[in-house]
Amino acid sequence: MPPEEVRKVPAEPAIEESGLSRRSLIQRAGVIGSAVAAGVALPAIGTAVPEAVAAQSTPVAATPVAGDLTMPPDIPPWMQVWGPLPSEYGARSPFEDGVVRMPSKTSSRTPLQHLTGTMTPSSLFYERHHAGIPAIDPALHRLLIHGMVERPMVFSMDDIRRFPSISVIHFMECSGNSGSEWTEESIAKDVQAGFGLVSQVEWTGVPLKTLLAQVGVDPSATWILAEGADAAGMTRSIPMDKAMDDALIAYAMNGEALRPENGYPVRLFLPGWEGNASIKWLRRLKIGDQPWMTREETSKYTDLMPDGTARQFTFAMEAKSVITYPSAGHKLTGPGFWEISGIAWSGRGAITRVEVSTDGGETWTDAELQGPVLPIALTRFRLPWTWDGNPARLQSRATDDTGYVQPTIAELVAVRGVNSNYHMNGIKSWAVSADGEVTSAWG
Ligand code: CO
Repeated sequence: MPPEEVRKVPAEPAIEESGLSRRSLIQRAGVIGSAVAAGVALPAIGTAVPEAVAAQSTPVAATPVAGDLTMPPDIPPWMQVWGPLPSEYGARSPFEDGVVRMPSKTSSRTPLQHLTGTMTPSSLFYERHHAGIPAIDPALHRLLIHGMVERPMVFSMDDIRRFPSISVIHFMECSGNSGSEWTEESIAKDVQAGFGLVSQVEWTGVPLKTLLAQVGVDPSATWILAEGADAAGMTRSIPMDKAMDDALIAYAMNGEALRPENGYPVRLFLPGWEGNASIKWLRRLKIGDQPWMTREETSKYTDLMPDGTARQFTFAMEAKSVITYPSAGHKLTGPGFWEISGIAWSGRGAITRVEVSTDGGETWTDAELQGPVLPIALTRFRLPWTWDGNPARLQSRATDDTGYVQPTIAELVAVRGVNSNYHMNGIKSWAVSADGEVTSAWG
């Protein structure tokens, strides 16, 4: 490469770099504005540049070593050579390789402690399987709709994609999410282990009612059996009201085909309902007039109450919230300004309010909700906080547009007991010690 090329190349990234800096300054100004409005005085954040370095007008073409970066004005190695060329399918920076799902034999959990905003990258969407991930050839996959219908029909993927489609942003949560939090002895070590079975994407597909209109549903039908094409033959009974409301036959997430672990090539998606009912790898819908009482809605996915009876077909995920920053594993490096942030959601509608406590629930302050606040969607909340350096106990409490307020764990246990692992939506606590360590706490 000629020397002039070497000199020219850094010029373009340098311009972009300065553009990024401006955006970053604007973003920071926004945060400051919000914090100032809330009466929080921000200390200087960042590292002051020594006068001798700031006075240098000519960039130093030195190769810095890690830990000795006094930029500017040093020119780092990545400004001195062409980088890799554009690629066919993107990958994140290798420096982000530590942000990963937490896999076990039957599930993997979303690293909520590392995510921002409200959307989950497809590669980090949680998983729950009952017999692994089937390797389905979409050209061979079929969806059968039969039972109490005028015209039983089979649809190929090409058929399904010809129908008018919609795209919707909704969370999905496993009803076993936070099952660790029912007792103090069993609490999870961090937000990923305890709350990582919730994720959110933009889903695209065909409303189920569109396909049901094709087959002509018997007016006396009240239930639908949904069956997956995995080796578990996963089956759940779905009330007809939900099927005719917002149920979706989804084939895409975040703008591209579903990932295999999330139901490729097609799945049922039931907004706001426990994830298990949104049958993945959907191959059959049978229309009937009563539930089928499958294994997954009798011995599993029912809620055993203190008196020995069981709640059954508890589909909706109630309002819930959790602080993701700071949370267990994070460390506050000193007293002063910190932004408390987390996510809230409700399977019954939109989040209308999130309150945050830093003293274990004695006092509460309304957090700011990041808009647009969508129904049945993860909602980011933020609260500027000046930590005084004393031990603190962080909690969040969500309210949805039905007026439902997220309960304490004690209130939930008083009603449900601790026989069942499902549908835990009690208030979560994080303990901050005087040295800034954040750990999982209960009650
Ligand atoms: Co349930």
